[in-house]
Amino acid sequence: MRQPIIELKDITKSFTKGGGILGGSRQQIDVLRNINLSISPGEVLCLVGESGCGKTTTGKIIAGLLPPNLGQVLYNGQDLYQLGDTEFAKYRRSVQLIHQDPYAALNPTHTIYSTLSAPMFRHRLVRNKREAVNRVAELMETVDLTPIEDFIEKYPHQLSGGQRQRVVIARSLILEPRLIVADEPVSMLDVSIRLSVIALLRRLQKEMQVAFLFITHDLAMAKYFGAGGNIAVMYLGEIVEMGPATLVIDEPMHPYTQALLKAIPEPDPQLTRAKEPVRLRSLDIPDLSELPPGCTFHPRCPAYLGGKCASVTPRLVEQPDGRRVACYLYQEGETPLAERTVS
Ligand SMILES: Nc1ncnc2c1ncn2[C@@H]1O[C@H](COP(=O)(O)OP(=O)(O)O)[C@@H](O)[C@H]1O
Ligand SMILES: [Mg+2]
Repeated sequence: MRQPIIELKDITKSFTKGGGILGGSRQQIDVLRNINLSISPGEVLCLVGESGCGKTTTGKIIAGLLPPNLGQVLYNGQDLYQLGDTEFAKYRRSVQLIHQDPYAALNPTHTIYSTLSAPMFRHRLVRNKREAVNRVAELMETVDLTPIEDFIEKYPHQLSGGQRQRVVIARSLILEPRLIVADEPVSMLDVSIRLSVIALLRRLQKEMQVAFLFITHDLAMAKYFGAGGNIAVMYLGEIVEMGPATLVIDEPMHPYTQALLKAIPEPDPQLTRAKEPVRLRSLDIPDLSELPPGCTFHPRCPAYLGGKCASVTPRLVEQPDGRRVACYLYQEGETPLAERTVS
């Protein structure tokens, strides 16, 4: 197997809550717990889960914008936080982030030309204005911002949301990244143009063989973008199921993945009506500051078995088909540690 670009090993990330001007006691909240994942060259990994489950935090850790509290981030097999300056700079160029709000990501006083040419000059990829104009035009063509002359001198406020996100995407390509972290890249765009921007990312992924961590709360989007790649399903700061998209989407194993999939409407309304929704035991999502013991999904899980579901956190266990699932339904014979010690 090829050396992964990025690996997360037993990552835990905590934030402190309370104790500010609003008072209340300070509390440490583990928003990510024991995250393990890896992304290999050219691979697509879709990270899906409801809002607040920790997707952006995971993306920021991978992009090196947020250090974890526990665990390791490996870049080419080396600990990110032990890298020398040159290696760290290389990592920064190889991993680019596209986030959901293209307006916030662009400087309102810069035209498309200055936005895209500045990093080219900074990294000495071009020597003069003529070269820069050519390179900017090339990039604009790559992201379908044409005709070039209509756009190159425009400011962000003169563009539509979709066009702005195309500028952000173009900028992310300048340094020829090996991995792009796209955090809900179309969630702030009009529904009508979402698909064209996703199709653009998909095309770039294939043409440039760049790896993607594609973050979305929308499983239908993950299904489309993740086709041929891997999917990781996150629930309250943990990965509950991860594996090839075909397996996870077509034959979900974790009750949470099943519930998410049953909630996707089908293109054919009759099929949607025929879908039996999963009956969750509770519709309330627990608060991260008061996580249920055991499997954090157990208070809502339709397949709740009792016993260890409510007392011992299930590990992600590899299944015969290669995917990994954290659920006791699929861990026959496995005695959780705590039960072994309590005799
Ligand atoms: N800087 C921060 N300080 C405190 N809490 C944070 C911070 N960033 C995120 N959180 C909390 O961490 C949890 C996960 O957030 P996030 O990673 O943004 O989730 P998602 O992207 O899946 O919606 C949320 O409960 C959020 O409120
Ligand atoms: Mg987010």
